[in-house]
Amino acid sequence: MNQIPLIFLGVFAAIATSFWGLLIVPQSQIGQLESARVDNYLSGYPRPRTGLASQGAETYRANGCVECHTLQVRSKTQGTDIQRGWGTRRTIAQDYLLESPVQLGSVRLGPDLTNVGRRQSDSLTLLRKLYNPRLVSEGSLMPRYEYLFTKRKLVGDERASKDALPRDTEPGYEIVPKPEAIALVAYLQSLVSDAPLFSAPVLGVKTNRTSTAAPAKPSK
Ligand code: HEC
Repeated sequence: MNQIPLIFLGVFAAIATSFWGLLIVPQSQIGQLESARVDNYLSGYPRPRTGLASQGAETYRANGCVECHTLQVRSKTQGTDIQRGWGTRRTIAQDYLLESPVQLGSVRLGPDLTNVGRRQSDSLTLLRKLYNPRLVSEGSLMPRYEYLFTKRKLVGDERASKDALPRDTEPGYEIVPKPEAIALVAYLQSLVSDAPLFSAPVLGVKTNRTSTAAPAKPSK
């Protein structure tokens, strides 16, 4: 029975160390992060999203895209993400400063989308991909998101409305993207995390801060 204070002390120590390690230390390391000043980013990096793209982030979340796609690029020493062309540098905490919630993802049934806005910026291609991924990449395993579109059969030689997807998407039908699909595409186009930051430099590109390290002495 005299062990009670000892048990209490053990439990207290366990809680205190995890509180320190999981809350205080990360908060002191990344809690004070602010937008960085980087060339070509007038309003700072990361660039704030437009309202439409922010709505698209919600559509991305609501449709479970995170179940198959990640939003994180690993460094060359941790994996082959950079060799695969998913980014020019690894992603760091700074990249997620304006994300809420952060949708990192952990399963990669599809490619990483961190820089999909760089790779694929054409809205029509992205809309067609959402309507039927097989139209854009043959044999794709990605599910169709038809419910983000309204589909109507065209009668006779009736013409589709001007907002409709191109005729060859599904001949004989008018397929018009719903606001959710348009917002989701704006979000995908906004996905670019390749500003050359001091903590995640891009080879051969000037970063946002000059190194404070002393220059290396020439070896004799
Ligand atoms: C069941 C898994 C799965 C889900 C869920 C899924 N995808 Fe995909 N996605 C894939 C696969 C596999 C590919 C690669 C083949 C292809 O390009 O279609 C892919 C490719 C893509 C690409 C092209 C990437 C590139 O590098 O060109 C985009 C964009 C995309 N998905 C967006 C989405 C969005 C947005 C959602 C949610 C609405 C979503 N995906 C949901 C499996 C999935």
